[in-house]
Amino acid sequence: MEYVLTATKTEARAGSYYDKIWRLYDLTFKLNGYGRSLDQYFASHPPPVSRGSSILDAGCGTGLLTLALLRAVNFPVSITSLDLSASSVTATRKAVAQSEGRRSDVNFMQGNVLSLPFADNSFDFVVTSGALEYMPLEDGLNELARVITPRGHLLHLPVRPSLTSTMLEIGFRFKHHSPRDVMQKTAHHFKVVDHFKFPPLQAIGWSKTALLAQKI
Ligand SMILES: C[S@@+](CC[C@H](N)C(=O)[O-])C[C@H]1O[C@@H](n2cnc3c(N)ncnc32)[C@H](O)[C@@H]1O
Repeated sequence: MEYVLTATKTEARAGSYYDKIWRLYDLTFKLNGYGRSLDQYFASHPPPVSRGSSILDAGCGTGLLTLALLRAVNFPVSITSLDLSASSVTATRKAVAQSEGRRSDVNFMQGNVLSLPFADNSFDFVVTSGALEYMPLEDGLNELARVITPRGHLLHLPVRPSLTSTMLEIGFRFKHHSPRDVMQKTAHHFKVVDHFKFPPLQAIGWSKTALLAQKI
């Protein structure tokens, strides 16, 4: 099966691959306890934000990370949840509307991570999980770094090589980036603050790590 490059900087397909598979993705990641693992991660690693901070969830999918952020931050912030797939953005909008968090903190936007519709230095904190695996790593990281304020933070949950990741790669048609590449390319713009390995009993730990980095 071929890897799906969802977009280039100048050209995004009219619909993302995720317009077709977002329900399968949402179900898989709800069943595997991803949201709970994110809650536990944020309990021990509070998001590096303060009242009024601007946050971008880049490639938000069906909103699982956006919802975890809303649960983790108990003061007003401004979150933009962006995805290439319009159906996924609609799913995120619904999930946030049905949540008990501060729904008004979140804006929704269809857009391309490789060509973000934001000025330089727009966000204090950018989170991204499972999206950079659909694009050349350097291009994605360059664009995320562009929109982060100096000394702002990036939380990247890169897919790490494992048997589980290989199965996910086949099912969801992405390609992981090598951990060495992730570290080296992150270091072009950021200083790594923390590299967290999820506990082995959490399903997320079989395929992902969490890299918190600060823009230099
Ligand atoms: C594996 S899902 C991850 C969703 C979510 N971040 C999460 O943690 O549950 C990958 C998402 O990245 C989105 N994506 C892929 N390429 C993208 C691009 N160039 N711009 C914006 N979103 C993109 C897909 O549409 C999909 O919703």
